[in-house]
Amino acid sequence: MKFSSRVVSASAAVLPLVNAFPAKLYDVIANDPQIAARTIELAKTLQGRQTGADAATALFEPVPQFNAADQYIDVSEGSGHEYVAPGPDDLRGPCPGLNAMANHGFLPHNGYATISQYIDATTTVVGMGPQLAGFLSILGAAIDGDLTAWSMGGTPSVAQGGLLGPLGNGLSGSHNKYESDASPTRPDLYEAGNDYITETGQFQDLINYCPGGQVDLDCLTDFRSYRFDQQIANNPYFFNGPFSGVAVQPAAYTFIFRYMANHSAEYPVGYLSYDTIASWFGIEGTNGNYNAVQGTERIPDNWYRRAQAYPYELEYFISDLINAAVLHPKFINIGGNTGTVNTFTGVSVTNLTGGLFNLQTLLEGNNLGCFIYQLSAQAKPDALLGALDTLTDTIGKLIAPLSCPQLEAIDESQLEQFPGYTKKAVYS
Ligand code: HEM
Ligand SMILES: *[C@@H]1O[C@H](CO)[C@@H](O)[C@H](O)[C@H]1NC(C)=O
Ligand SMILES: *[C@@H]1O[C@H](CO)[C@@H](O)[C@H](O)[C@H]1NC(C)=O
Repeated sequence: MKFSSRVVSASAAVLPLVNAFPAKLYDVIANDPQIAARTIELAKTLQGRQTGADAATALFEPVPQFNAADQYIDVSEGSGHEYVAPGPDDLRGPCPGLNAMANHGFLPHNGYATISQYIDATTTVVGMGPQLAGFLSILGAAIDGDLTAWSMGGTPSVAQGGLLGPLGNGLSGSHNKYESDASPTRPDLYEAGNDYITETGQFQDLINYCPGGQVDLDCLTDFRSYRFDQQIANNPYFFNGPFSGVAVQPAAYTFIFRYMANHSAEYPVGYLSYDTIASWFGIEGTNGNYNAVQGTERIPDNWYRRAQAYPYELEYFISDLINAAVLHPKFINIGGNTGTVNTFTGVSVTNLTGGLFNLQTLLEGNNLGCFIYQLSAQAKPDALLGALDTLTDTIGKLIAPLSCPQLEAIDESQLEQFPGYTKKAVYS
């Protein structure tokens, strides 16, 4: 399938999915002319102050604040949000954050939810910015669901509200679209036959990268670099996709600190202890004796989310993403192994984008943001046409204020040399 006929267009007509998106929020995103200027300004500021993976913190949280009553997430007995383990029919997948929210009834316990429910839960419980929540939730509905709802695990049954047909395989079934290689605690699909089961050993590796009792963005970024190299050395089909690799893989690491850390007057930016991260990931035991128990992701007792005065919003996430790429440029090297281990080959961004971007210009201004939005619409051939049209329209609205250079086409033949891209997904 060539993408060229479904170019991201800023002027496309309003389609059904857009109506499903809360109108007020939608207007904020579509009509905010500040976003473009702000993104350029941020990129410039960041260029002068690359001090580490968390260089963006001081920029976005200049006056850290803490309000206990406002930030407390009550999951105690009787709160209505106590932990309830998933039953055999409940859908759970590669995302520990969403799994935990379903276990606590902040999302439907069966794991199948609407765009609005995902937006409400993520903005309220962990302080995700509304634009980022809207983008991620709409994308889920468009590439893994039925345009209005999607599963955080596998294909929903009809009893759960799912539709019959090829749409709606959920996050676990979206390898290379949403689900990416080199995840923190999940194996690569073609390495293990699954992309969502938590591996105790990978969790222990993460902790080993973060000595001293706490997990921060610097050690997570180092751990990501290690995981990237480890998968090149172990997975003959390792693939760092244009969207799944460049944009989702970093989220799988930065979300750990930005959304799972506990907040307090002493640590207003967040403190992520081993116990807190273990709870969120459904890990029993202590350092050296961990044991992942699938399905037991829990929001810790006495946990305080980030302040909503500075939610973790799109521009904050993109700044973290750029910081990580400056430290480890391989992160934005689109490509993969060519069928045997240690054969990582990168494609030319110039060739991929018909000359629009190159690796240099990708890090300039708001180009990386544009590229990510535009590439999120790059889906595998199993996606239906209607979904793609709706998605590209929605993405078009989101990026309109960025004045992105028009991406005419993605030359998919550039990616076809990678078996990790062309291989048909098989799910256990
Ligand atoms: C609507 C919002 C969200 C969507 C669509 C989403 C989607 C995903 C997807 C597709 C993955 C798999 C990526 C991979 O293969 O590495 C993932 C992983 C992950 N997500 Fe989410 N997510 C959302 C919200 C959250 C939130 C709120 C948190 C934190 C509380 C979170 C934390 C994580 C983490 C830590 C991983 C990596 C898991 C691992 O491999 O160890 N996500 N998410
Ligand atoms: C979060 O921090 C507060 C203040 O230090 C503390 O009372 C609470 O137990 C912490 N919660 C977790 C889950 O560590
Ligand atoms: C990009 O395309 C040019 C012209 O077709 C070709 O010579 C070059 O090898 C390509 N670069 C990569 C990395 O594929």
